[in-house]
Formats: sequence, C-alpha cells, structure tokens
Amino acid sequence: MSYSDVKIAPSVLSADFAHLAAAVAEAEAAGADYIHVDVMDGQFVPNITIGPVVVAAIRRVTALPLDVHLMIVQPERYVEQFAAAGADVITVQVEACPHLHRVLQDVRALGVQAGVALNPGTPSVAISQVLGDVDQVLVMTVDPGFGGQAFIPAMLPKIAQVRCMLDEAGSAAALEVDGGIGPQTAADVVGAGARVLVAGSAIYGAEEGVTAAIRAIRAAAAEGLTTTTRWPSGDQRVF
Ligand code: DX5
Ligand code: ZN
Repeated sequence: MSYSDVKIAPSVLSADFAHLAAAVAEAEAAGADYIHVDVMDGQFVPNITIGPVVVAAIRRVTALPLDVHLMIVQPERYVEQFAAAGADVITVQVEACPHLHRVLQDVRALGVQAGVALNPGTPSVAISQVLGDVDQVLVMTVDPGFGGQAFIPAMLPKIAQVRCMLDEAGSAAALEVDGGIGPQTAADVVGAGARVLVAGSAIYGAEEGVTAAIRAIRAAAAEGLTTTTRWPSGDQRVF
C-alpha cells in the first residue's frame, strides 16, 4: 500500500484568513494533494465564507489543484466565475440542483472536473442518475456550514454504498469525504472506500502543527487501506 492511494485536501476554512497564503504554502510544503475551498452563501448553509476573488488569490500562490466546494443555492450562476478563478474541481450540492445533469455538464464544458456532494440526510440514491457525469463524489460526514463539527458515524455505510455504486457503474470518480476527518476517523472512512480526505480543524487547528497533522492523517489512512469494511452484511447494496 502506498500513501499516494489516499489524497489529503486541507480545508482552508480553518486557516487564519489574515495569513491565507502562508497557510496554503504550509500545506503544500507538507505534501497536501489539494487545497479544499469551502464556499458558503448564507442560504444553503447559515455561514458566509469565500467567493471567486479569494479563489483567484489562492490560485496565484499555489500549484496544488483547487478543490472548490460550493455550498450555495443556484450554483449554476457561479460555476463560470469559479472556473475562471482557477478551480480544478467544482463540487455542487445535489440538494441545490434541480437540474443536476445540466450543471455538471456546464462544469465539465468549462474544462473543470465536476463533483457532486451529498448532505448526511440525503440518501446515496440521489446521485444514481449522474454516476457517468461526475469526476468526484463527496459524501458529507457532517451537516455543512462550519468547521470543527463531530463526524457522523452513520455515514460509514453510506460511504461504502457510494463506493459500491461507483464500482458497479465502472466509474473512476474519486470518492471524497468532508467533515470531522482527522487521525481518529481517517482509517474508518478509507476502510469504507473513501480516497480523498478533506480536513480543516484537524490540520489547521492542530497543536502539533500542519505538517505533523497531515502526517498523522496519512498514517491513519494507510491503516484503513489494509481493511475493506462492509456494513452490515450486504447493506452497502441498498441504494
Ligand atoms: C463543512 C465544510 C468542510 C469543513 C470541514 O461545512 O464543507 O470542508 O471545512 O471542517 P472540519 O474538518 O473541521 O470538520
Ligand atoms: Zn468542504
């Protein structure tokens, strides 16, 4: 097993916004695979965070791919701006998209990878019709809106369900998890099939620092690669 089988995507939501360039550089130097950017509009989620101008500013200071997570209503209104700002992956929330195929196709047409995210309360079947239209599926492991929330363990069988759906569809889409991910939860989510781990507070809030935190998450993730977890028997096939 190699560390490179699991990607780490530090979420700058938990970084010091007054020193964003330094926070991104620190993650890059520590071997992060992506920079995860949480865009919130005060409507889809209660919080308001980052817009395209900040994504463009981050783009200028890193070579890492930017993984832009849109927790906004009507994301179709903004995908072009985020693509122009330098996003490499744009993920929309399935709950915000009555015309999901259209927005995913729009993202790909902009030359950007298309992702779809599911809130914890949304069943995996919600994405069953777009498995061929996505480059990434994001299973939220907290209700989005804030960093530092507790991981919801009931999401483990859902991760395994989505893994199974992607495998059966012959999809090479990346399976990402976001919310409450850190050294304590990384092995379980990887064992369930996740391969891209977003972590905010566990990296930028870590007392031991960003580099040690990323190392600890990678070590736990590598442990998870040695297991394939099924919950409960056959349950991951209930889409
Ligand atoms: C949650 C965001 C996450 C958040 C994760 O609404 O989508 O990306 O930054 O933060 P932690 O890792 O602290 O749960
Ligand atoms: Zn996120």
